[in-house]
Amino acid sequence: MTDTTHRGCPVTHTDYTGTTPIYEHYALLNADRERERFLFNDSTERGFYMLQRYEDVQAGFQQHQNWTTAVRSALRPGLGEPLLPQDLNGEEHLKLRKILNQFFAPAAVRRLEPLATQRCIELIEELKPKGSCDFVAEFAIRYPTDLFLALLGLPVSDGEQFLEWSEDMFSAMLAGEPERAAAAKKNIIEYFEAALEDRTANPGDPETDMVTRLLEARIDDEPLTRDQIHTILLTLMLAGLDTTRSALGYIYTHLATHDEHREEIVEDPDLIGKAVEEFLRLYPLVFQAGREVQSDQEFEGLELEKGDVVWMGIGQANRDPRKFDDPDEFIIDRPGANQHLAFGGGPHRCLGMHLARLELKVVLEQWHERIPEYRIAEGAELTERGGQLTLSTLPLEWEV
Ligand code: HEM
Repeated sequence: MTDTTHRGCPVTHTDYTGTTPIYEHYALLNADRERERFLFNDSTERGFYMLQRYEDVQAGFQQHQNWTTAVRSALRPGLGEPLLPQDLNGEEHLKLRKILNQFFAPAAVRRLEPLATQRCIELIEELKPKGSCDFVAEFAIRYPTDLFLALLGLPVSDGEQFLEWSEDMFSAMLAGEPERAAAAKKNIIEYFEAALEDRTANPGDPETDMVTRLLEARIDDEPLTRDQIHTILLTLMLAGLDTTRSALGYIYTHLATHDEHREEIVEDPDLIGKAVEEFLRLYPLVFQAGREVQSDQEFEGLELEKGDVVWMGIGQANRDPRKFDDPDEFIIDRPGANQHLAFGGGPHRCLGMHLARLELKVVLEQWHERIPEYRIAEGAELTERGGQLTLSTLPLEWEV
């Protein structure tokens, strides 16, 4: 007979790592949340306590003194690729965030808007005459890759080559092929290193040039090591590209299958800002974050011990009916939609959230001005990869 409780907490076995038909993960998340306030999930070796209601997840993100990113994903509590600033906590984390924040603040992101718009138009104009594309592979990943290079002050013309390496690294990491991942990573680090050499010889303005700023930055009078700078740049790549691709995949699936919502934003593009917020709430692709408990303690009646893994149920919070009315519906002018937790909360809240919002807004504006009607190709079977949700393909068609 199997235990139905773990230290008094009801047990669930739901596996959130598989590939399933699209939207199945949201159904699983909703079902677990409505079963019990807290669950212990035993689908991984270490297991994890699931925080699932909006108010618990929000409070959980504030427990940062005691719940640290020694575990970043409840589903993969192993150390994985080193990441900065994620792997730091407390004071150390704040010091590094202070250096990086200026490049991701709303004003800095606004400076990128003309380039973001221009690059977006170029990519759409390239695709438009074809009348069809795999939106995920031909647009949703290319666009954020180009902007990532622009953010670092590197030539957008390197986008295609860079994308090949980053895709190689992503796919090797997912497939659990460390040697192939390491080879791809080596190419990427060499590319970053060339940019660092160049800026060492020809420094830019540290107020606007991120690479120069990283080279000149001091923490407690010490410069960042080369290794740290490489890790920061690699982190921005890992955190920024796949997420934006996935968000675009879900948004375009929704719009291609809901004419009434697509027509609304085509007719009134001023609604796009609100639509982006509601899409982020409804389709949170980072549907969980992990934390590791640092000392025995109680949280809302849950008895936690040092070393326990906690799941911050972002996907469950964003669709919690206690917080949002009709939570599984897309409501373009939903009051308080921006209170979603798609970007997390507390000190580790997404560094790139303003950039992500800008990217999504620019794409929706420029695409619908040029291709207002499109559909999913007949017979396409859409699937989502668990862990961190993403669509592997989204075949779209339109009239030319
Ligand atoms: C729709 C797109 C995005 C989503 C949904 C998203 C989601 C998230 C979430 C949920 C976290 C918090 C993780 C945690 O608490 O453990 C996070 C952190 C982070 N994100 Fe994003 N993200 C997106 C885009 C981006 C972009 C474009 C960048 C940068 C180019 C970025 C960089 C980061 C970084 C560096 C962190 C770690 C922050 C820290 O630990 O201080 N993200 N993101």
